[in-house]
Amino acid sequence: MNIVLLGAPGAGKGTQAQRLVADYGVAHISTGDLLRAAVKGGTELGVKAKKYMDAGELVPDELVIDLVKERLDQDDAKKGFILDGFPRNTTQAVTLDSELAKMERSLDCALLVDVEPAVIVKRLSSRRTCRACGYTGTAADAVCPSCGGEMYQRDDDKPATIQNRLDVYEKSTSPLVEYYRGKGILVSVDGDRPVDEVYADVKEALGL
Ligand code: AP5
Repeated sequence: MNIVLLGAPGAGKGTQAQRLVADYGVAHISTGDLLRAAVKGGTELGVKAKKYMDAGELVPDELVIDLVKERLDQDDAKKGFILDGFPRNTTQAVTLDSELAKMERSLDCALLVDVEPAVIVKRLSSRRTCRACGYTGTAADAVCPSCGGEMYQRDDDKPATIQNRLDVYEKSTSPLVEYYRGKGILVSVDGDRPVDEVYADVKEALGL
């Protein structure tokens, strides 16, 4: 299973990826998670990436592409992967195709989780994330339901930044829907329904 997850910020890509990983044991490669870990660790990459992330802008391609190449080369990703948050523009998509070709691999599918912008703003404003394990929940979760860790609001989940992330998605990332449709590997699910129903459709769309 080599999959790209597409969808606006807050569409539920991470939520669905967590379920696929739990059920099928594939590697979850979230560039957002990798970048947040770099910021938290104070690495050179993290220092460079932070200002873009806080503003809801894309981190420069050269920083993100190297990160993904390294991650795809790790043993767990050789059995299959879910790319979540990558590619984010056409340059990243073309680079991904050529890097996978060098590894004699290819994408099976690009899965679009489709949700309207108005729903997104509401979801992201109330999202809370576990500082310890990365679990994604809502403002109703006082502590992490998965590990009991502290829940916090991501800096980029503040209202002004959410709107910018949506604008960036529309301009830079949404053209990838046509990119993958043109390659004949696009499938999509309606993401504006309860998580379990979306997941059932995800499995059907992926033939699982
Ligand atoms: P990233 O972390 O990738 O953020 P994103 O794409 O904006 O996606 P999110 O994680 O916000 O949303 P999601 O779709 O995973 O939704 P979730 O499942 O959490 O990127 C952050 C930043 O890093 C970027 O802005 C950029 O700066 C940088 N970056 C990352 N990748 C990059 C790249 N390739 N190139 C350049 N820069 C890059 O769900 C959201 C909320 O909704 C949660 O509270 C959840 O509980 C809830 N929810 C989920 N599903 C449902 C449902 N069906 N019904 C009701 N609620 C639901």
